[in-house]
Amino acid sequence: MEKNFSLRELNTFGFDVKARYFQELKSMDDIHELTRNPKFIECRDASRILILSGGSNILFSDEFYDGFVVYPNLKGIETLEETDKTVKIRCYCGEVWKDFVDYTVSRKLYRLENLSDIPGKVGAAPVQNIGAYGAEVKDAIYQVHTIDLVSGKTKVFCNEECHFSYRNSVFKELISQRTTHALSQRDDKSLPGGTWHALYMIFAVDFILKKHGELKLDYGNIRNYLISNNITSPTLQDVAATVKAIRAEKLPEVSVIGSVGSFFQNAIVTNEKFLELKECYDNIPSYPTDSAFVKIPSGWLIDKAGWKGYRESHVGVWDKQALVLVHYGGGKPQEILDLMKKIQDSVKEKFGIEINPEVNIV
Ligand code: EPU
Repeated sequence: MEKNFSLRELNTFGFDVKARYFQELKSMDDIHELTRNPKFIECRDASRILILSGGSNILFSDEFYDGFVVYPNLKGIETLEETDKTVKIRCYCGEVWKDFVDYTVSRKLYRLENLSDIPGKVGAAPVQNIGAYGAEVKDAIYQVHTIDLVSGKTKVFCNEECHFSYRNSVFKELISQRTTHALSQRDDKSLPGGTWHALYMIFAVDFILKKHGELKLDYGNIRNYLISNNITSPTLQDVAATVKAIRAEKLPEVSVIGSVGSFFQNAIVTNEKFLELKECYDNIPSYPTDSAFVKIPSGWLIDKAGWKGYRESHVGVWDKQALVLVHYGGGKPQEILDLMKKIQDSVKEKFGIEINPEVNIV
């Protein structure tokens, strides 16, 4: 266990946040040992535990995390079962997501190719049901292996039990309940701790991938990109390479400029509200959800509100994709929080729409 540990390398925003306690977990034995660590138990009972994965979807609201950061980093990829049509693969939480996708593509297995190059680790992929270019990880997940850091018992969540939806899952719901509880505790010292019955940590994910599949080419400009590169019968590898190229054009490279990809979720509005907006903005892009609602890209709203390319001291809005907030280095988390608020207020004022962060703020 480390004390006052710098998380600068472990959050892709690159903020120099310190954690009071920090523990990397490389094996099941490490996990069991952790559940007996008195400092861990003390922080757990005070709701001051953070399970950190690739750090590519997290914003610390302070420069000091006064609690215990758990960093699960178990490695390994195993083929569990193979039939004529499918292959089941177990991947441990510490594997890098994009390397895992490359591995499945190199084995000519379908379902993850549109999720190429998303930053982060495998253990975090189910938490916010990562998605891109018309694919979501939920469609490739067979089951999720967790360990309860309270009882030390393992629990397997089958796909249905994960309650996946747009950028959400049962795991994310549990994190937000814990965070809300921790924040209320911070404000009200009289609140008792120790109310958590379970604290699930994902340590492995089982995927079910297809040997023969259909490529998803209809989202964004995948098809146009292929055509302009004279690829008329694309392979799985072509699609993965195309997604990588499109992402590289639009999104900052997190090893160079701090960001968490999409900072905001896309907005979901009623049909009525959408038609009202369409009267003023004929070219407003949208994706249908179910009958009563329409999804509007927040990137378009933020862009139209004039924020694209905006910079204020150490932080700003990426000039190629307004959904992405960036940290140029040397700044503090509060600068991102201030910018977030300004953008939310301005989008609300211009369009009457509230946009919410996609990033987990802790
Ligand atoms: N748009 C603008 N200006 C901008 C950004 C976008 O006008 O600055 C417009 C685009 O022209 C397009 C629409 O908004 O008509 C949608 O933009 P885009 O296709 O770039 O995708 P998105 O909806 O903004 C989502 C995901 C991304 C994912 C892409 C591609 C969310 C919150 N974001 O973005 O996910 O890569 O689709 O599938 O759902 C991430 O989660 O970190 C992430 C990058």
